[in-house]
Amino acid sequence: MRRALALAERAMFTTTPNPRVGCVIVQDGRVIGEGFTQPAGHDHAEVQAMKDARSRGESVRGATAYVTLEPCSHYGRTPPCAKGLIEAGVKRVIAAMEDPNPLVAGRGLGMLREAGIEVRCGLLEQEAREMNIGFIARMTRGTPWVRMKVAASLDGKTALNNGVSQWLTGPAARADGHAWRARACAILTGIGTVREDDPALTVREVQTPRQPLRIVVDSRLEISPTARVLADGNALVVCANGDPDRVSRLRDLGVGVLDLPNANGKVDLPALLRALGERQLNEIHVEAGYKLNGSMLREGCVDELLTYIAPCIVGEAQGMFNLPALTSLDDKLALEFTDVRMIESDLRVMARVVARMKQ
Ligand SMILES: NC(=O)c1ccc[n+]([C@@H]2O[C@H](COP(=O)([O-])OP(=O)(O)OC[C@H]3O[C@@H](n4cnc5c(N)ncnc54)[C@H](OP(=O)(O)O)[C@@H]3O)[C@@H](O)[C@H]2O)c1
Repeated sequence: MRRALALAERAMFTTTPNPRVGCVIVQDGRVIGEGFTQPAGHDHAEVQAMKDARSRGESVRGATAYVTLEPCSHYGRTPPCAKGLIEAGVKRVIAAMEDPNPLVAGRGLGMLREAGIEVRCGLLEQEAREMNIGFIARMTRGTPWVRMKVAASLDGKTALNNGVSQWLTGPAARADGHAWRARACAILTGIGTVREDDPALTVREVQTPRQPLRIVVDSRLEISPTARVLADGNALVVCANGDPDRVSRLRDLGVGVLDLPNANGKVDLPALLRALGERQLNEIHVEAGYKLNGSMLREGCVDELLTYIAPCIVGEAQGMFNLPALTSLDDKLALEFTDVRMIESDLRVMARVVARMKQ
């Protein structure tokens, strides 16, 4: 199963909106076939592994298949993998976890059992869940997994008062940030960051065949048509009661526009996440300034923080999250640290939100 998880890792940047899955087929203690999910519409991991075995001149009849996610049971763009495994005469299937997709949810394993195949589920389940955390979020609650990246000084400052923020952290931390961008389906920022930094928000420091969608939260559609984030049209601007002329000007550039106002005339962030879930986006990577960061946290729109802390202090400057002052510590946003490590001279701290702030 560890090998199957490593294979799934190779599908990290390419399978969206499908989950990343790895499969290893073992016959008499020997690995005879390996596979991982191909881009959507192409082979799933099990089919790849069976093809691999065949190309090595091996028969999968009587073999054991280790797969990081329950084999699918439905006809999507490809035929059901459970059926393929049954027809190939596999004897045992070991899955890491059940498929959270309501179209599958146990039916794939059920099909295998009915066909007389020995089935076990739950081996290295936690690792498998982490691999597809965004897919699971979308399938179970209809919204993507939201990971917010922030680079800050040790005193928690993300930009000087004059807007300068490049660069607080070193090149290795920035490259690490690009790997997180690459696995996301979309990178989300605010108009303040676009105005100040004009970032491209593309993946550059790691190899990837796919660039994530770029999303800009911009209530009044103030974005310049020449903003780098809009180059190539793989972008979506989200406004609140946007001016129709500005909407059509952006659409003429091939840029998507969503109009999702909240009661304050800003973008309705929870509604945005629901819309992104409907568009089959699994993981969202946020790289915004302290204003949008604060709103997203306050409105319960963040699952995980990816923070890079630079070994410096900058004093009076913009913080990480624009949030109101509390009067009681009972109202704090509770987090759980999940990973802490050095990335050259910077510190990377990952944390998950365990209790949402009181509104
Ligand atoms: N160190 C880092 O990790 C990092 C990362 C990114 C950016 N930055 C720095 O952050 C600075 C920009 O910060 P910022 O706070 O001005 O920009 P921001 O958070 O990227 O964008 C804020 C803007 O988003 C719009 N918005 C729309 N709906 C919103 C909602 N529901 N809640 C909050 N905002 C909403 C608001 O403008 P409208 O009302 O006009 O729509 C708001 O002014 C730059 O200096 C940049 O260099 C630092």
